[in-house]
Amino acid sequence: MRFGIHTIDDFEIAGKTVLCRVDINQPIDRKTGSLKDLTRIRGCLPTIRELSEKGAKLVLLAHQGGDLEYKNYYTTLPHAKVLGGLLGRDVGFIDDVTGPSARERIRSLRKEEILLLDNVRFVSEEMTLFETKLNLTPEEQSRTQVVAKLAPLADLYVCDAFAAAHRSQPSLVGFQEVLPSAMGRLFEEEFCVLSELMEDPARPCVFILGGAKIQDAFMMMSTVCGKGIADKVLTGGLVAHIMLLAKGLDIGKASADFIRSSNLAEFIPVAGGILEKFPDRIVLPSDLAFEEEGGRKELALKQLPCDALLADIGHETAAEYVRIIRESGTVFANGPVGIFEKEATGYGTRALWEAMASSGCRSVLGGGDSIAAANRYGVEKGISYICTGGGAMVRFLSGEELPVVKALRNAAKRSGHTGWKSQ
Ligand code: 3PG
Repeated sequence: MRFGIHTIDDFEIAGKTVLCRVDINQPIDRKTGSLKDLTRIRGCLPTIRELSEKGAKLVLLAHQGGDLEYKNYYTTLPHAKVLGGLLGRDVGFIDDVTGPSARERIRSLRKEEILLLDNVRFVSEEMTLFETKLNLTPEEQSRTQVVAKLAPLADLYVCDAFAAAHRSQPSLVGFQEVLPSAMGRLFEEEFCVLSELMEDPARPCVFILGGAKIQDAFMMMSTVCGKGIADKVLTGGLVAHIMLLAKGLDIGKASADFIRSSNLAEFIPVAGGILEKFPDRIVLPSDLAFEEEGGRKELALKQLPCDALLADIGHETAAEYVRIIRESGTVFANGPVGIFEKEATGYGTRALWEAMASSGCRSVLGGGDSIAAANRYGVEKGISYICTGGGAMVRFLSGEELPVVKALRNAAKRSGHTGWKSQ
């Protein structure tokens, strides 16, 4: 046990059917199905390898999200191929999650065999929207399709999905109600490193919040400012555009329409509230950039509105953010500050990531796209710690007991008084 949670060491694995929830949600090229980054997949290899080598019949459960918030879920077939390549052995795949064919494949697994099920979020109960609208208790989650169909086939549930530990969804918090449960090795490592970091972050403590997960970004912003964890929050990308709209700026039709058509307009008043509450801590861009005919163009805020879609912070903003980073004790980054995948609009993210890597501050970067950007710019080695979790990392830092941590702790407590033994 560590942190009140069982580890793999507490269980006999040989011959057992183990359901292992991993987070291998990676930026993906939706046309070709190729994964643009493998960091999260590599991160869970130790757990997968260990469970399989110890003789588990191993069933992997995972989700693969889309490009903006929670749209466009994608199959996990490419992940099975990549996993097989990295492990140097076959990883089975079935395009089913809870149906009769998936259950039959699980029943026929042999010792050491590994099977990856299809995207668990193809099952509607796993959707984040479902999570926020219905707010089921873990006990209710244990009666959902995913848990009710799969748990009877398994002996042990292992959660290695630290990056999704802030989600309260059946595959993440439901199995702990009905199966002996443990955290995987990656989960254990992330928990340990972040707990140490949280104890006494060197000041000033700066957060860079960008990315496409807007609801998460604003929630994190209010928490880290409200709890006095962040001395400054540097904003970029859509987060900054929504904040500028909240300040009453006309950012231009293309960007405003994009925000409205992505159903993000509801965050404009949220952003306004945060700006009002923490005026000295939120830092907004002073200039912005967009792509035109393949090239980069910039404009100052006073030159707004912009006809084109805004897609990066400008040079002046980047220089100011870099200055703040260099004077910081700790920097946490979650979410790129522009469309970094494109040469014309990657400047801001690159400048900030390079500053994090080269300044003497303690730098921590988390989340699928942030990691992909770090790998793209070759700065991974200079970053003090790269966490597979983005939203999960920031919420963990805010001192909140994450739903998955709570469920694993409850399972460990329960194992004491219901007769479940760490076998
Ligand atoms: C992430 O990318 O932060 C995790 O995989 C969780 O994904 P989600 O934000 O789509 O729940």
